Amino acid sequence: MNQSSLLNPSVPVIPSFQPVAPQAAAMSDMFILVLWICAGIMAVVIFLVVMGITKYRHKEGQPEPKPYYGNHKLEIIWTVIPALIVIWLCYITFHGITQYYPSDSQKADLTVVAHQWWWEAHYPSGVVVANEIHIPVGQKWLVRTQSADVIHDFGVAQLARKMDVVPGMNNSLWLEADKPGIYLGTCNEYCGSQHAWMRFFVIAQTPEDFAAWQKAQLTPASDKVAGSAEQGYKDFHSMTCANCHAINNVPNTFPQTAPDLTHLASRQSIGAGILTNTPDNLALWLKNPQAIKPACLMPNLTLSDQQVADLVNYLETLK
Ligand code: CUA
Repeated sequence: MNQSSLLNPSVPVIPSFQPVAPQAAAMSDMFILVLWICAGIMAVVIFLVVMGITKYRHKEGQPEPKPYYGNHKLEIIWTVIPALIVIWLCYITFHGITQYYPSDSQKADLTVVAHQWWWEAHYPSGVVVANEIHIPVGQKWLVRTQSADVIHDFGVAQLARKMDVVPGMNNSLWLEADKPGIYLGTCNEYCGSQHAWMRFFVIAQTPEDFAAWQKAQLTPASDKVAGSAEQGYKDFHSMTCANCHAINNVPNTFPQTAPDLTHLASRQSIGAGILTNTPDNLALWLKNPQAIKPACLMPNLTLSDQQVADLVNYLETLK
């Protein structure tokens, strides 16, 4: 199949070790600290074991050593030191958790709804997007997560902690980025056959760029479609597309059944990361979504090549 999957070159191999937000940096630092402490303990244990089996190895003709019981000083030392290490690790862990744990009663800056297998995000301004979250850099946003179906898990390794998305529950996390960039988000809880293709991007922008983006998103798609897009517009509204996909937020349901397409052409990916958003890939998707993302909710509508071409012409106008 002539399709190109979306692999963003800016995503590091182990994103957790390249944090771009205070919260992610705190987690990364804590992990490295714990790793070094454990490595130190392991080195001491290996040293003692190796010393024991070399220095105190049984030699021919040597009598059995006398068993040695009870050294209170030693016993206290090897009980107290590990206990202090464990208490200290507990302290820094709980401190880290509480520092980055928003209250569930705080007002959300963004509501994210997880679906099998895509993400929907609602801004208080009325903007609705799918699989792409724009945030202004340097601002700590409270994200509230909800699920439309099963348990998912929202995670952007370079920016924040992971958060389970549980049906019937409102969970919260802080999302923040120190510098502009595109950060890969993933679902981290197995949620069905296309769990791996439940990706999204957090696009951190300067406050000015973010404001411009938000303004553009609030601009409705034009209903005056002419030329090559006209037939696609008619097809979209006369076939079943509009039953699930909103354009211009109509029908404005919450959560939505399928991704809002008002500004589809301005997005990075199709199918929550499975395809880069190009006209050719959009045509492949429309021709048979089930061939690209089996078991996704969009059925094969058995469109003709002409219908696909017309729809692509129309959808590409939705910038
Ligand atoms: Cu959603 Cu895994």
